[in-house]
Amino acid sequence: MSLLILDTDPGVDDALALLYLRARADLKLLAITTVFGNADVETTTRNALWLRARLALPAPVYRGAAGPLTRPRGASPTHVHGENGLGDLDLSGVALSPADPGAAHERIIELVRAHPGKVTIVAIGPLTNLALALRAAPDIANLVAGVTIMGGAFAAGNVTPFAEANIHNDPEAAAGVLAAPWPVTLVPLDATLSCVLTNADARELAQQGEAGRFAHDVTRGYAKAYEQLDGCVLHDVAALVSLTRPELFETRVAPVSVALSGERLGQTVWAESGPTISVRLRADGAALARHFRETVA
Ligand code: BDR
Ligand code: CA
Repeated sequence: MSLLILDTDPGVDDALALLYLRARADLKLLAITTVFGNADVETTTRNALWLRARLALPAPVYRGAAGPLTRPRGASPTHVHGENGLGDLDLSGVALSPADPGAAHERIIELVRAHPGKVTIVAIGPLTNLALALRAAPDIANLVAGVTIMGGAFAAGNVTPFAEANIHNDPEAAAGVLAAPWPVTLVPLDATLSCVLTNADARELAQQGEAGRFAHDVTRGYAKAYEQLDGCVLHDVAALVSLTRPELFETRVAPVSVALSGERLGQTVWAESGPTISVRLRADGAALARHFRETVA
């Protein structure tokens, strides 16, 4: 049984990641920590609380960073995740409890120290909380089981021609996280873009029970942003599947750095030195999407 902290900016594909997690008895969710990204942190935290209630997830929700380490926060991608960050799904009718007390990065430190060698941090938003945790407690680098990140782009970006959103949203944080001496697995766009939940698959899922109906409903707005695919991309789900089904990926192990200036800001690049990172460079996207559907249905 793996103990997980999910650091997230919900986010439609983040919601699908939580749906997948709920269906996996081998993954125990210790905490959900929130970060700005797909929306401001008030909204992503509200969405995490909404998802906890809607999906009956027995985990605390700790609010995290409102903006990047050193830069101003960029505009929220409402054209992808809607005005409410969850594809403008109707969120009424679900009673929300408040966020649990404590800052995300402090709770990450406490949880990692409480379960030495056992906790995997899965980061599916900007890496600010992880960078703050490392800064305050460098010892956690030796105490985690691993860090799995949805982020990065080697061939082409999604927010600029070069950079992927989670890294571009806080490149300094990402650079710090990739340079730390902890075991990192990076799941970049190069792998995730092939992992598509088609609209036909979503319609079929909707006939297969409560979880499938939720996957269908929450992705309707998000799928419009991926109109050319006739479906939507399972970026954040791919980070979790990288843990449960690593054989679905091709992996290259090498140091990686982050461009911190110029037009390539936020690009992930192969580096000459530094800690080695396991980069999931390609995925069997069809098999991954099928595995997602079968797991949640
Ligand atoms: C990543 O950015 C966000 O839009 C998604 O939730 C995902 O984590 C994809 O670039
Ligand atoms: Ca995300």
